[in-house]
Amino acid sequence: MNRWGRGVLEVVAAVEPALRNAANQLRTLLQRDAVSPATFRARLEDVPPRERDGWLDLVWDVHELPDDETELPRGCVPYLPCPVATVLDVVQQAGVTDKDVFVDVGSGLGRTAFLANVLTGAGCIGLEIQPSLVEAARGRAAWLNLERTRFVQGDAAERLRFLTVGTVFFLYCPFSGDRLHRALADLEAIARTREIRIACVHMPPLDCHWLVRLPSASPEVDVYRSTLLDPSFRRAAT
Ligand SMILES: C[S@@+](CC[C@H](N)C(=O)[O-])C[C@H]1O[C@@H](n2cnc3c(N)ncnc32)[C@H](O)[C@@H]1O
Repeated sequence: MNRWGRGVLEVVAAVEPALRNAANQLRTLLQRDAVSPATFRARLEDVPPRERDGWLDLVWDVHELPDDETELPRGCVPYLPCPVATVLDVVQQAGVTDKDVFVDVGSGLGRTAFLANVLTGAGCIGLEIQPSLVEAARGRAAWLNLERTRFVQGDAAERLRFLTVGTVFFLYCPFSGDRLHRALADLEAIARTREIRIACVHMPPLDCHWLVRLPSASPEVDVYRSTLLDPSFRRAAT
């Protein structure tokens, strides 16, 4: 039994054979680079909402949740994939497009980075502290020939500052406390060079003078936009 309270094998087994075939077909198309965001969305919308997580697990070849590494530092949250419905909300509320670079901070097996890439065409970077998860995510991305999805191993508190190409930073509750403060300081430095959005799931409000919270239609998703390069905010601050 996993942390969802339901075995992944059980979730995968519950997927209808027709959906299993559809997932296999999509994997073949992905390998041939023949899946536009519109095609992917149409395939996803064919799947009943309650079966979408099991279907995506098949597409991304997740048969069971891996064990977390024992040396996961204190304060770092173990791996739990973000539900498909929540990622759809994030992508919509943050307005992610193919012009963006979406950074999943704490990307686990890479399922959300993959989903964001195929839904929108955005470049995606997964940053993950657990080497075994990074390895597994890289293997899947290579197998599906994903050109715009990369996985980087490291502690976000040390590595995030180097991901200056990012435009949307996604945090599904990867850590809190001092690590979160350090990550936000690095994001503030990036926001001095370009406007960024930060999408948070199940996180306490980010109380930063350089961020404005965008209206949200979902109780679990908060999207913020940086204001440091916005002249109207600069005028208001002076
Ligand atoms: C709740 S899971 C989120 C998984 C992923 N974002 C998704 O949506 O499928 C949190 C992830 O953050 C990773 N993590 C925790 N602390 C981290 C850190 N300091 N730097 C990078 N990754 C970290 C964990 O290993 C875990 O995979």
